[in-house]
Amino acid sequence: MTASPHPSSPIPHPVIIDTDPGIDDCLALLLALKSPELDVRGISISYGNTVIEHAWRNAVEILRRAGQRRPLAVGARRPLKRPLVTARDTHGDSGLGYAAVPRAGSVLDFAKTLEQLLAAQTEPVTLVTLGPATSLALVLRRERELVRAKVARHVAMAGCFRVKGNTTPHSEFNAWCDPEALDIVVRAGLGTELVPLDVTRQIVVTSEEVARLGQSSDDTGRWLHDALRFYVEFHRRRERLDGCVVNDILPIAALVRPEVMALRPSRVAVILDDGDDRGRTRGDKAGPEIAVAEQVRPDLVRQLLFERVLPSLAGAEAHS
Ligand code: BDR
Ligand code: CA
Repeated sequence: MTASPHPSSPIPHPVIIDTDPGIDDCLALLLALKSPELDVRGISISYGNTVIEHAWRNAVEILRRAGQRRPLAVGARRPLKRPLVTARDTHGDSGLGYAAVPRAGSVLDFAKTLEQLLAAQTEPVTLVTLGPATSLALVLRRERELVRAKVARHVAMAGCFRVKGNTTPHSEFNAWCDPEALDIVVRAGLGTELVPLDVTRQIVVTSEEVARLGQSSDDTGRWLHDALRFYVEFHRRRERLDGCVVNDILPIAALVRPEVMALRPSRVAVILDDGDDRGRTRGDKAGPEIAVAEQVRPDLVRQLLFERVLPSLAGAEAHS
């Protein structure tokens, strides 16, 4: 078992985030934007939890609430081969639960692409993918050398190994959405670091904490409460959990504080079947070598989230 490598680039660590916001993506983006250790060079928007038009609108609203401007780019609008399916039950119609959002209206046809965002980088970046792997797979198909030149490191929230899936009994949502894309990515020789459900499931915000967020004195705290209470309702119904699993904050937290997660070099396979095995990830001696996160320190991750994104809950570690 090896600890996650410290970012080799100078501080702040340059990152591009490909994401499908999404309630936990929203917290992950806010954590990245509020972390001085990271230099968020751009955000690429993908379908996934919701359709791309909603995900784009949500990212614009998240940036507005963070008081920051960052380049936004268009990633994938649909899976490579599979039909488009979104996670409305998990993240709501808008993608952000009950949180109020403006109407989606941007025409994305002329927006910058993920390729253009990568090409504009003056130094290699860490690419973090928090949704289906399709955006990166498309760039790899079209401009493999560009990815080699500009992506120094790739960290992906995807897959599950020893725990039950959240989409089929064996599959995690991002892997399930586009198994063919994830397969292309893990075979691309990027040394992808996979952050699977096995570790992200341990990052939970309790329903009591979400309720407390509703009493925040700041408007964005109450806005996040409206997003998260939808997520809690979903987890109560589907997972019998009194809280919500905020998967996507873990890859970001691990860039900020490498000690929160440990990785193990692993050979894996992505199953391209249909049915319950669609998007299943498993160890396979014949598969490409990547790294898989196997250990996590949820207390430190929650502490970071509370201090930087949910300040009205900071100090909650002492209560839980
Ligand atoms: C992943 O799927 C989505 O619901 C979350 O945003 C996360 O990226 C967890 O399986
Ligand atoms: Ca996501």
